Amino acid sequence: MTSTWLDFWQEKNEFDDSMSANYRYFLDRVEEFIPITSTKKVLDIGSGPGNLEDAWHDRVAEIHGLDISERYNAIARSKHAHHPNVFFHTLPADDYLNFGPVAGQQFDIIIVMSVVQYYRDAAEVEQLLAAIKQVAAPGARALICDLIVEESVLKDVVSILGRSLRQGQLLFMLKLLFRLRFSSYYNVRKNNGFLVVPESTWLTMCQRQGLNARFVSKPLTMQQERRNLLIQF
Ligand SMILES: C[S@@+](CC[C@H](N)C(=O)[O-])C[C@H]1O[C@@H](n2cnc3c(N)ncnc32)[C@H](O)[C@@H]1O
Repeated sequence: MTSTWLDFWQEKNEFDDSMSANYRYFLDRVEEFIPITSTKKVLDIGSGPGNLEDAWHDRVAEIHGLDISERYNAIARSKHAHHPNVFFHTLPADDYLNFGPVAGQQFDIIIVMSVVQYYRDAAEVEQLLAAIKQVAAPGARALICDLIVEESVLKDVVSILGRSLRQGQLLFMLKLLFRLRFSSYYNVRKNNGFLVVPESTWLTMCQRQGLNARFVSKPLTMQQERRNLLIQF
């Protein structure tokens, strides 16, 4: 039975087909903050089915995905079997902040999209910041996206419906929300919730880690009240 977020991502779920719509929205906006060139080496933490790799594999030098879900990694590897610059590594579910698979490597761009809300607590988030610092090349940029900084399920739903309406995807989103209500997602979310880390806590942690960080002013994901943290090394 699915009881934790870790279990949830190992099984086929309603997000498998819907994640790419949110990702498209992000891709259309991210380059204002993260310039892409063919020499850049990219790390995608929580890479899922490989949306970033699909979009960027032929625009950057190398791209590495890290995910706790072997299932997503298998899907992503099969799409990129013929791309020698794309790699997917599986993180141990009980030690996911140990980036051993990429230890000793340095990255110019680090993306973490819709992942931190599934961490257990703020202490893990600070470990993530320290792990990012370890693998960031001089001059690197890291973008930690789709952050829930205040508790409000209703605001979240209203925001995504409003954005979907403007994107001409309202029906698609209503269907997804209906499916989610009757899926294992509903119970996992009810039992485990999302990790909420206020903006001030993020900034304090960054300061403690000696990171130059700020929240970007524009929304980068369809859930507009979620925030996006840019770190410059
Ligand atoms: C909502 S999906 C986002 C996937 C991808 N970043 C995207 O936006 O298309 C969340 C992803 O984070 C992964 N994940 C969840 N907890 C994780 C953790 N602690 N460490 C690494 N990946 C994690 C899940 O397996 C899943 O692939």
